[in-house]
Parts: sequence; C-alpha cells; structure tokens
Amino acid sequence: MAMIILMGSKENKEKSKRFLGLNNVRFLYLNSNLAAGKIKCPLDFVYIDGNHDYSFVKKDIEDYYSLLKMGGVLAGHDINNFGFENGVLKAVMEFAVNNDLYVYNYHNDWWIVKTDGRRENVRKTYCR
Ligand SMILES: C[S@@+](CC[C@H](N)C(=O)[O-])C[C@H]1O[C@@H](n2cnc3c(N)ncnc32)[C@H](O)[C@@H]1O
Repeated sequence: MAMIILMGSKENKEKSKRFLGLNNVRFLYLNSNLAAGKIKCPLDFVYIDGNHDYSFVKKDIEDYYSLLKMGGVLAGHDINNFGFENGVLKAVMEFAVNNDLYVYNYHNDWWIVKTDGRRENVRKTYCR
C-alpha cells in the first residue's frame, strides 16, 4: 500500500525524516486544497489535522471525502477542544448530518466511514 503524507509546507520537512527509508511514501509539501487536486488514486484512509477553523475543516472534509474509496475512513483530530469556537466539531457534524453518515469518536479523534449514505450499508461495513 502506498502512503501519501501531506506536510503543508517545507517547514515541516524535519518531521518527514522519520519515514526515510520507506519506498512507498510520497510527500506533498502543499496546502491541503492544492494537494487534493494532485491526488488521482482513491484513498483508504485520510487524517485531517490542518487549520481547525470551520471553513478550512469543511473544505478539507469535502475535498478528501470525495477522494476516499467506498468503505474508506476519513478521520481527524481536535473534535473535543471546547476552549474556543470549535470549527472541527461544527464542520464534522454538519457534513455527517447532511450526508446521513455516522461520526465515531474516541478522545480527541473522530472518524467517518464512506458509504453510499444508506444506514444498512454502514452496518454491513462493521459487521463482516
Ligand atoms: C494542529 S497542527 C497539526 C500538527 C500535526 N499533527 C503534526 O504532528 O505535525 C496543524 C498543522 O497543519 C498545518 N496546516 C494548516 N493549514 C493547512 C492546510 N490548509 N494545508 C496543509 N497544512 C496546513 C500547520 O502549518 C500545522 O503544521
């Protein structure tokens, strides 16, 4: 399985060193919106942890949900930070409600499984 890691900018390049030696990793030093336009293969898993303002999270969710395989997982961080207006919580819940999807949550992580929007198919994804 190939892995695509989005670093946002070259300032984060230090962090990419931990993956040196792996030949199935591709780094994109781009903002998330530009990177989404470069990804042509359907993705199994996406973890969103960029700008946490509502409009950015909303755009990241829309861009990357459309790049996921059916049954793939869209996840992210900081859904439980209540010290400020929580753009993550608002964007995630709004997307889930509008698309009839479940949101799963553990500590500060959230995730959604891509389905065709029919609840019986969400259940099948988990009951194999
Ligand atoms: C909350 S921190 C997450 C850090 C990350 N979990 C890590 O361990 O490096 C957000 C990071 O996303 C970057 N970022 C913010 N907006 C972004 C965007 N639109 N596209 C890509 N990266 C972005 C920021 O520069 C920052 O490094």
